[in-house]
Amino acid sequence: MASEKKQWDSSQLRKYDLNFEPIPRLHYKDPKIDELIKANQPVLITDSNIVKPAREKWTLEYLERNLGNSGHTVYVSRNHKFKFYDDKKILNKNNPKGVEFTPPTKRVEMKVFEFMKRLREWKRGEERLYLQQILNSTVGPAIVEDYMKFDWHYVAEKKNKYNWGELTSNLLFISMEGNVTPCHYDEQQNLFAQIQGFKRCILFSPDQFECLYPHPVHHPHDRQSMVDFDRPDYTKFPKFKNLKGCETVIEPGDVLYIPIYWWHHVESLMRGGPTVTVNFWYKAGPTNLEYPLRDHQKVSIMRNVEKMLLEVLQDPKEVGPLLRAMVLGRYNE
Ligand code: OGA
Ligand code: FE
Repeated sequence: MASEKKQWDSSQLRKYDLNFEPIPRLHYKDPKIDELIKANQPVLITDSNIVKPAREKWTLEYLERNLGNSGHTVYVSRNHKFKFYDDKKILNKNNPKGVEFTPPTKRVEMKVFEFMKRLREWKRGEERLYLQQILNSTVGPAIVEDYMKFDWHYVAEKKNKYNWGELTSNLLFISMEGNVTPCHYDEQQNLFAQIQGFKRCILFSPDQFECLYPHPVHHPHDRQSMVDFDRPDYTKFPKFKNLKGCETVIEPGDVLYIPIYWWHHVESLMRGGPTVTVNFWYKAGPTNLEYPLRDHQKVSIMRNVEKMLLEVLQDPKEVGPLLRAMVLGRYNE
């Protein structure tokens, strides 16, 4: 595996008006991995056996045969972007407090054979698909067996060492080539394990908050950047120019640690065929407020202030003006 040659080139990467540092790539036994994870820094772990059974077996054909007959969650997009949205924050009959919002992608239930058929027959210009299914008891027994043979010892050791909370879920991603998950952050620790194909992951530290302009917390696009990386609106988002990030291309067998609250943009390489990934999401560990606070803790504080204001003000439209009055009225120099 270690001798495997790089099987992609930079023409398969989308072009952005940004430059990135490389994310460190370390052998899974390298002790520097621990230092980085402890410091909440991203690192790419190579040659581990974390998802070995999946890496050896989970071809598209195998997944089609074994994923099971229940419906799977598939997002459908008219372009290459799959920007996440939270249904619970959309205005409708049952949610009068929600935000008026037209989802950028459709979420549908699809049987795996139908999904795979559409993947095989897909032509440029057609709707794109992205399967994102939590691995749960509906998957077939062969997948469950492979899952149980993941290197749980290794991941449990990491979880304990870094004081993470419990494993909440494993999300399975099956993507068409060229699909993009636009820049967002999650409130969980993430071990992102590549199984088939290549994904480019661009990461930004939580201290880049101001350059990335997240949607308001009450918005369905909460935790997502408002900036469209393909066509950044520098008038609206001038600080996007100062954005500093790091990137890597992950290949089968690689596991990328995406620290909690770190922004990430993920793209399946163009002309690289479909990709398969499984992530391991862990809850945040117990917080100890040691000063100075870390950047991700400040993001968490900002989220809480925003939620509290919304609760007392009731109207999301009042949150911004109140914060603005408070800051500009007093701290502007
Ligand atoms: C994640 C994530 C996106 C992707 O695992 O948190 O955002 O397209 N993944 O793989
Ligand atoms: Fe994510």
